[in-house]
Amino acid sequence: MNIVLSIGGSVVGRDQDRISRYAKMLRDVASDHTVFVVVGGGKTARDYIGRARAFGADEAFCDAIGIAVTRLNARLLIAALGHDAYPVPPETQEAALVAALSGRIVVMGGTIPGHTTDAVAAILAEYAQADLLINATATDGIYTKDPKKYPDAVKLDEISPERLVELIAAERMGAGANLPLDMLAAKIIERSGILTVVIDGSDPSNVIDALRGGQIGTYVR
Ligand code: UTP
Repeated sequence: MNIVLSIGGSVVGRDQDRISRYAKMLRDVASDHTVFVVVGGGKTARDYIGRARAFGADEAFCDAIGIAVTRLNARLLIAALGHDAYPVPPETQEAALVAALSGRIVVMGGTIPGHTTDAVAAILAEYAQADLLINATATDGIYTKDPKKYPDAVKLDEISPERLVELIAAERMGAGANLPLDMLAAKIIERSGILTVVIDGSDPSNVIDALRGGQIGTYVR
């Protein structure tokens, strides 16, 4: 199978042990599948962006800082994977496809300003004709409302891409679902019907469960 794994920056963060466990899991998975990984920027990106904004930097400039941090995080995972990874983070999805011809695990960060690594991963999933897009994030799935604010929020086992787009649009209007995917990613998933699963990224073994088709997280289909 062709798999795209999007790992939130808050998931890899600075936790050395978790990065090692991700590397081990990825090596296991890569023995049977073609794996592309997209890494987010997390707290470091937010810190740098906040500081640049305080100096009056424009949003595109701040995005460029965010992209730089995602690529830095990608390099850290590449370091953990050693020879099993393609040695540099490709800067575009097309470059990632070319890098995959090496037979190694491809790890990249962001691409251009204006979106997040969720969208990068969804577009990469289109390019790679991925069988599965896994979004390993800080929550354990998609909820009807923000579970941190609303005790009656319900975790969904499954959601259609159309409903996900509606939820994200409603959140933008202030309803507060605090969703783990951004609008562009949801639109791409909708137009291409990419099978997607949102899982708790704190434990890399959840990726294995998702690959086995276990009921974990929330499936978008
Ligand atoms: P992330 O993908 O990490 O954003 O990119 P996020 O989803 O807000 O954060 P986490 O990791 O899930 O906690 C960090 C920032 O980098 C810029 C954006 O400003 C984004 O918020 N970025 C990233 C881009 O502009 N383009 C990209 O392709 C990727």
